Amino acid sequence: MSSSPLSLVRFAGLAAAAAVASAETIAQINGDKYLSPYAGKTVSNVSGIITAKGPDGLWLRSSQERKRSDVNSESIYVYGRSFTSNLTVGDAIVISGKVEEYRSSKDYVYLTEISSPVLQSKGSSGNKVEPLVIGKDTLEPPKEQFSSLDGGDVFAVPNNVSQISVANPTLDPTTYGMDFWESLSGELVTVKMPMAISKPNNFGDTWVYGDWNVTGKNERNGLTITAKDANPETIIIGSPLDGTKNPTTIKLGDELEEITGVVTYAFGFYRILPTTAITVKSSQEAAVPSPTKLESDGTCSGLTFGAYNVENLWAQSAHLPTIASHIVEYLNSPDFMFLQEVQDDNGATNDAVVSANLTLSTLTAAISAAGGPNYTFVDIAPSSNQDGGAPGGNIRTAYLYKPSLLRLAKGNPGGSLDANEVLPGPTLKFNPGRIDPDNAAWTASRKPLVAQWEVIGANGTGAHPFFTVNVHFGSKGGSSSIQGDARPPVNGGVDDRQAQAELTADFVKSILTHSPTSRIITAGDFNEFAFVSPMSTYTTLSSLHDLDAVANIPTQERYTYLFDMNSQQLDHMYVSEAVATAAGGKAEYEHVHVNTWADKEGEVSDHDPSVARLDVCS
Ligand SMILES: *[C@@H]1O[C@H](CO)[C@@H](O)[C@H](O)[C@H]1NC(C)=O
Ligand SMILES: *[C@@H]1O[C@H](CO)[C@@H](O)[C@H](O)[C@H]1NC(C)=O
Ligand SMILES: *[C@@H]1O[C@H](CO)[C@@H](O)[C@H](O)[C@H]1NC(C)=O
Ligand SMILES: *[C@@H]1O[C@H](CO)[C@@H](O)[C@H](O)[C@H]1NC(C)=O
Ligand SMILES: *[C@@H]1O[C@H](CO)[C@@H](O)[C@H](O)[C@H]1NC(C)=O
Ligand SMILES: *[C@@H]1O[C@H](CO)[C@@H](O)[C@H](O)[C@H]1NC(C)=O
Ligand SMILES: *[C@@H]1O[C@H](CO)[C@@H](O)[C@H](O)[C@H]1NC(C)=O
Repeated sequence: MSSSPLSLVRFAGLAAAAAVASAETIAQINGDKYLSPYAGKTVSNVSGIITAKGPDGLWLRSSQERKRSDVNSESIYVYGRSFTSNLTVGDAIVISGKVEEYRSSKDYVYLTEISSPVLQSKGSSGNKVEPLVIGKDTLEPPKEQFSSLDGGDVFAVPNNVSQISVANPTLDPTTYGMDFWESLSGELVTVKMPMAISKPNNFGDTWVYGDWNVTGKNERNGLTITAKDANPETIIIGSPLDGTKNPTTIKLGDELEEITGVVTYAFGFYRILPTTAITVKSSQEAAVPSPTKLESDGTCSGLTFGAYNVENLWAQSAHLPTIASHIVEYLNSPDFMFLQEVQDDNGATNDAVVSANLTLSTLTAAISAAGGPNYTFVDIAPSSNQDGGAPGGNIRTAYLYKPSLLRLAKGNPGGSLDANEVLPGPTLKFNPGRIDPDNAAWTASRKPLVAQWEVIGANGTGAHPFFTVNVHFGSKGGSSSIQGDARPPVNGGVDDRQAQAELTADFVKSILTHSPTSRIITAGDFNEFAFVSPMSTYTTLSSLHDLDAVANIPTQERYTYLFDMNSQQLDHMYVSEAVATAAGGKAEYEHVHVNTWADKEGEVSDHDPSVARLDVCS
């Protein structure tokens, strides 16, 4: 989440009245809800001890002890750059000022603060300032729910049915993660044994959890999102108060040195501003994942299928050779690859070029050069600038396959506007062909690429036909922050993905209507979680099986992408009953974490690839 500093607007509180209230405690000003009962009012005789100073203000704490279960924060941010100049941490002061609710975007939650402060008196200096240890001096952060306004599911549709700024719910810090952090707004806190669960964002901010109980922990110590558990027990660490810079090389699972800082809300998230830059204590042992153990047996009973979103790949991409080596070394050169985000031959140059022949032949040459097989590729160039992504890039899905082992069944390739159909056999009208390209559901999005294949036997005869559908559904762009004002948060593009899931499922269903034992593999970047409505609709309508479930991958190990605090899975394979149950249901599947485990610089794509070993014999 980013926000231009120019767009910052300081709201003069919610209440129009500027009545003068007096002798308020900090806890009374904060109240037990999100919005202060004193918003817009002038308060005086507010006393406290300075716990921290930042570039634009300071944090003031009452002398009240805090009980673990307290709801009203005993601390508050005092906004005023020049006000801080003669004051130091440990000073006892009495101030007056105006209570404001501030946010830099209307999509964010308000921060309660005192603005236009005036020093009424200054008392003793050098008072001891003790941070609250999270989980010890406070409750443990809630582990599943974010807000009482989410109805139990942060991904429920419809979303944005209410807003925190309007509903202003009473805080329940035992149950809701946002309420927990709100109840600590302004407090100086310590996170013991912080674990990094993201790479730093462009501002150097990193998500962590501390020595408290967490759910969804994966083997890398990240937290994987699961149904109705999107990991509110986490907090992002923002810019240090002393002007130092957080490291930019932090990786998933890095253990950090203890962090002390103040709790605030900015840029869409509750965050801790550390007193000084965070430091890495130790990194996870194996820096890179093991290559897949899955090996093709070179026949229909054990074919390997890889899938990889190669992130805006074109012929001259600097990351092309590394993508090639990932396919060879980490995926063990699968017999077949589902690729997404293949750009045309001149990348994001916005001209009439749509062919990706050069991009794909450069990739297959790099794979051969890296010691891999000589793949053949197939794709359908989209109509110029009709499939979304970077203007002129014309991203599309594409297949690579070993021509000694596989071939397209009866070829009759379709064009970008040809709507594929299932014919008796079943076979395809266009092989390969796209699903319903004119349908409004695909506006500015990738049309799935359907193909039918044959396994080439020793005598050169094609047999064991199977179908593939290579998808790249619409993105989550336009989502609101998971800790934003809109509840449940806006899941950007969910209506498009819902329609896309239905169309793709209908197509799969028409293959299965012709022959219920058809072997079908659909894979790619669905841009959605398996447990969220577009994908649950997809499996229900299509009767396909989620390969993660078929292969018994533990739910917390199902991730191919890092976003905010979550390890999450946008890339899936779904297979038909015939594939799921073949060879006694021994389908195998792995997500190979070459990118989620890397630091920002070592990341080649924002997605991890996956590989499966499947039986497509009859
Ligand atoms: C603030 O405190 C001082 C000293 O206790 C007192 O004299 C004064 O009346 C108070 N002001 C208000 C507005 O309550
Ligand atoms: C800080 O202290 C100096 C010296 O006493 C004084 O001149 C100045 O006005 C003070 N600044 C503020 C913002 O109070
Ligand atoms: C949520 O809905 C409110 C009320 O209709 C609207 O003002 C706000 O912009 C919406 N938020 C988002 C993120 O779409
Ligand atoms: C973690 O949760 C368990 C069970 O709820 C509880 O007994 C334990 O005290 C918690 N751990 C910590 C560090 O609080
Ligand atoms: C790309 O390759 C296909 C298949 O070999 C061929 O039909 C097509 O003309 C090529 N396109 C360009 C622009 O070279
Ligand atoms: C790929 O093709 C080249 C040129 O035809 C050939 O020399 C090489 O042996 C092939 N590699 C494999 C792995 O088949
Ligand atoms: C080729 O082999 C397949 C089995 O792999 C067999 O069914 C087919 O009859 C063979 N065809 C010929 C022409 O021998």
